[in-house]
Amino acid sequence: MADSTINRYNREAKKYEQKWHKYLDHTHRMLLKHIELTPSDVVLDPSGGTGLLAKKLIAQNYSFEQLVINDPSDEMLAIARQRLSDKPSISFKNKKVQDLSYPKNYFTKIICLNSFHFYEKQDQVLSQFYKLLKPAGKLYILDWNREGFFRIINSLIRWSSSEYINTRSLRELQQMMSENTFNIQTSHRWNWRYWKLMFVEGAK
Ligand SMILES: C[S@@+](CC[C@H](N)C(=O)[O-])C[C@H]1O[C@@H](n2cnc3c(N)ncnc32)[C@H](O)[C@@H]1O
Repeated sequence: MADSTINRYNREAKKYEQKWHKYLDHTHRMLLKHIELTPSDVVLDPSGGTGLLAKKLIAQNYSFEQLVINDPSDEMLAIARQRLSDKPSISFKNKKVQDLSYPKNYFTKIICLNSFHFYEKQDQVLSQFYKLLKPAGKLYILDWNREGFFRIINSLIRWSSSEYINTRSLRELQQMMSENTFNIQTSHRWNWRYWKLMFVEGAK
């Protein structure tokens, strides 16, 4: 089922940033407000799409040692590669998140932006993120927040789409992260236009 999402992103990759310009501008700005990176960070962006976040990190002088941009959509990743392949600290992977294979404790930060609702086995992915993070490493998730009236919008999105979409409320996400032994450090929920959004930071 998730393949229909990947196929859609393949089809829409070239128009993605233009189509979602305002939404991406908002969510990326909110994410950058809440995350911290240091020059020794080894960062995973498990659904990095067109590499827009990396572009913004570089433009805003965030420093890191390595950044892995993963995305299962060839066409989204092609844009990321084209945009960033001259950056030696950035590498690319083309897998579904659940198929990523790295040694335990490899990353110091994982940034999951606008994508968690597409993951079919969210609990398993959180457990995988936990293993991939070094002790004291951080997981940052920003995604839709299935609360209040957004439950209705979410139901309409699910009803009208053949894709796998599993949006969580902030409370559900906090609970899932806690069950996977993340220590919740910060969380925020807010409204933007008709979207309800949330951000959670968990530490290993
Ligand atoms: C809304 S886009 C977000 C891209 C980027 N994080 C951003 O904010 O611009 C969602 C991305 O999730 C990716 N995706 C879908 N299913 C996935 C999966 N199972 N594992 C990893 N990424 C997935 C899609 O290919 C797409 O690029």
